[in-house]
Amino acid sequence: MPETTRPDATRAQAACSDGSPAKSIESCREDFPILQREIRDGVPLIFLDNAASTQRPTAVIDAITECYSNFYANVHRGIHTLSEESTRRYEQARQSVARFVNAKSDHEVIFTAGTTAAINTVARSWGDTHVGQGDVILLTIAEHHANIVPWHQLAERAGCRVEFIPLREDFTIDDAAVQEHLERLRPKMFAFTAASNVIGTEFPVERWTAMARASGSAVLVDAAQVAPHRSIDVQQWDADFIAFSGHKMCGPTGIGVLHGKEQMLEAIPPFLGGGAMIARVTTSGFEPAGLPEKFEAGTPPIAEAIGLEAAIHYLDSIGMDRIVAHEHELCRRADEGLRALDGVRVIGPTSDKKQGIVSFVVDGVHAHDVAQQLDTHGIAVRAGHHCTMPLHKALGVTATSRASFYLYNNLDEADRLISAVSEVRQKFAPSGRRRRR
Ligand SMILES: Cc1ncc(COP(=O)(O)O)c(C=O)c1O
Repeated sequence: MPETTRPDATRAQAACSDGSPAKSIESCREDFPILQREIRDGVPLIFLDNAASTQRPTAVIDAITECYSNFYANVHRGIHTLSEESTRRYEQARQSVARFVNAKSDHEVIFTAGTTAAINTVARSWGDTHVGQGDVILLTIAEHHANIVPWHQLAERAGCRVEFIPLREDFTIDDAAVQEHLERLRPKMFAFTAASNVIGTEFPVERWTAMARASGSAVLVDAAQVAPHRSIDVQQWDADFIAFSGHKMCGPTGIGVLHGKEQMLEAIPPFLGGGAMIARVTTSGFEPAGLPEKFEAGTPPIAEAIGLEAAIHYLDSIGMDRIVAHEHELCRRADEGLRALDGVRVIGPTSDKKQGIVSFVVDGVHAHDVAQQLDTHGIAVRAGHHCTMPLHKALGVTATSRASFYLYNNLDEADRLISAVSEVRQKFAPSGRRRRR
């Protein structure tokens, strides 16, 4: 079975889980109020900064408003009606997330503040108990800082070292390189991104997880750039830990997910201590609660969880297979169009090896200037190192401009991006002034 298909493929088909017909992807744009906005006195907004954070449909905004308007109270601790209602809806959101990623149990779904918080939790809870002097944490060079810095911090505490698998010329990493690193370094943990937030390369999670497992390594998958775009099946992936963020998949900010295998989560201590995560506290110590509360100290993101559930239902109503196919089409159009421009270099593999991200450099023009000029056309892209300084160093560039697509973008927007970049190139770097690299 291909990695992108879950055993229960209902949500990938042209119908929602409740049996109603799937929503057309072309019509979904109308569901996002912000996309009707014009900027700069009348320029229509073309939002291509989705890898950083996506926009929200009315269904998500309404779910959050409904929570605060009708049934909000703190969860778990109250006996009163609102608290019971809030608790039921919060736990229902957890079940929806568990179904969305095909988790074995909703106890394996820990709500966190986002991918960063989820990875930090693992680096603390698992890392501090399993990693010691001289051990190795293996990453790829394509990681976001969220999947680098917590391991550097662990290295400072535990005396382990962090090693990186390099990219090939074609911006991919082959299995042989992964195998060689696993055999030579015998890491305690192999933590890698399922897809790069800069070059867009998708990595074979299931295969690499099996290879790591065979070499005795634990596995963490940073799914921040995959969960929003295609169907994932955590049982099929079989990683020990998987992290993703709500705000990159039409959900609210301040919520993300740490999925962990139940026996793994049971075996490691909680990272944050406080209310809600305990079974008992005495003057001499405490006993942690069971899963998932053990890892959810303090008041959790209640309205955010309910908003995330609405986002998941929304994505379901479109169908993840249609979303990924649509994004591939947009990515191909933008990728090919930008590659065809003189003085523009796409930094990343061809569109068949990546998802909806096109990062590029306009020779002789700083990425910030590119982004600023594109903004005058109403086009929002991100410019800089995108929290991947080691990757940019390996690629030999200090900054890139990044266009990233989502379900509500269309081919016309991809074409407008290409012609706007062409204009920037003409304006800033006429051929006589072209800088050699
Ligand atoms: C691959 C990847 N990992 C981790 C993160 C961090 O996500 P968050 O800021 O939601 O914690 C990002 C955000 O851009 C990302 O792209």
